[in-house]
Amino acid sequence: LDRPRALSGIQPTAGSFHLGNYLGAIRQYVALQETHDAFYTVVDLHAITVPQDPAELRANSRLAAAQLLASGLDPDRCTLFIQSHVPEHAQLGWVMNCLTGFGEASRMTQFKDKSAKQGADRSTVGLFTYPILQVADILLYQANHVPVGEDQRQHIELTRDLADRFNGRFGETFTVPDAYIVKETGKIYDLQDPTVKMSKSASTPKGIVNLLDEPKVSAKKIKSAVTDLETEIRFDEEKKPGVSNLLTIYSTLTGDSIKELEGKYEGKGYGALKTDLAEVLVEWVTPFRERTQEYLGDPGTLDGILAKGADKARAVAAETLALAYDKVGF
Ligand code: ADP
Ligand code: NA
Repeated sequence: LDRPRALSGIQPTAGSFHLGNYLGAIRQYVALQETHDAFYTVVDLHAITVPQDPAELRANSRLAAAQLLASGLDPDRCTLFIQSHVPEHAQLGWVMNCLTGFGEASRMTQFKDKSAKQGADRSTVGLFTYPILQVADILLYQANHVPVGEDQRQHIELTRDLADRFNGRFGETFTVPDAYIVKETGKIYDLQDPTVKMSKSASTPKGIVNLLDEPKVSAKKIKSAVTDLETEIRFDEEKKPGVSNLLTIYSTLTGDSIKELEGKYEGKGYGALKTDLAEVLVEWVTPFRERTQEYLGDPGTLDGILAKGADKARAVAAETLALAYDKVGF
């Protein structure tokens, strides 16, 4: 099997995934199943970097897995597992902690944002070292490509730096991965403030489309998306970020190019674009929600998929960890 490896992780924290997660990351997970030896993990270790309710976390991890399957992940063509089922993540994470400079970790902008939001005093050390655990997640699978949204670019750079550092100090051990970020959808914007990314932690309820919400609710959010005072439907991220964001979402969900959509809506108003996009979205989320419910309604099958995934992941992770432990002198 000479396919390149892909690895990505997604947090179970919010319950429902949002449209940014789907278009920025999960769509690529689905595509890379065809070309890569692909590993996808629900990162519950990352989820406890902020306070969690245990029963809720357990339910949300399964819900996350159900949504990934409903999105099109096929357990026969990729490896899907829960991070805590594979203890090697925490074990390699420790080694990576000991290779990372304190100043280097302090420069991670996502930590600064998240800890500012929590109040610096209430932030955990786990939140601080989160990106380093993420490094271990990726290096354990010798991943070549890491499908993520634009906001993860700095963490992938850190991963590359630490892989190089380990290899330089102890000898060739880890594959140095590349971020796999699709330019068009790497950053989906908040519907109410199209200058910032749609985000489970920062967006207001009206700014974020949650995939498991009632389709009617999501349609309404699309219809009240912030645009601009012009009327022309044209892709221009600088001058028309709201309209451009809607065009990106529309284009990605339907496969119509931006050019085609600009032509289709020539001389028509924003209302027409929003009404049609709302419909496109409802048509996509309705079967997605049904498939998610089907997986949740069949816990035996879901648990079987995750157990098999953990076994497959562990075989690879254990081999890499043994190699790394040997190199550091364990
Ligand atoms: P959030 O950023 O909402 O907290 P996660 O950190 O769990 O969500 O992100 C999961 C994946 O979704 C990551 O690969 C991330 O880069 C991607 N992602 C999150 N928000 C967006 C967005 N607005 N546009 C594109 N990709 C996104
Ligand atoms: Na993120």
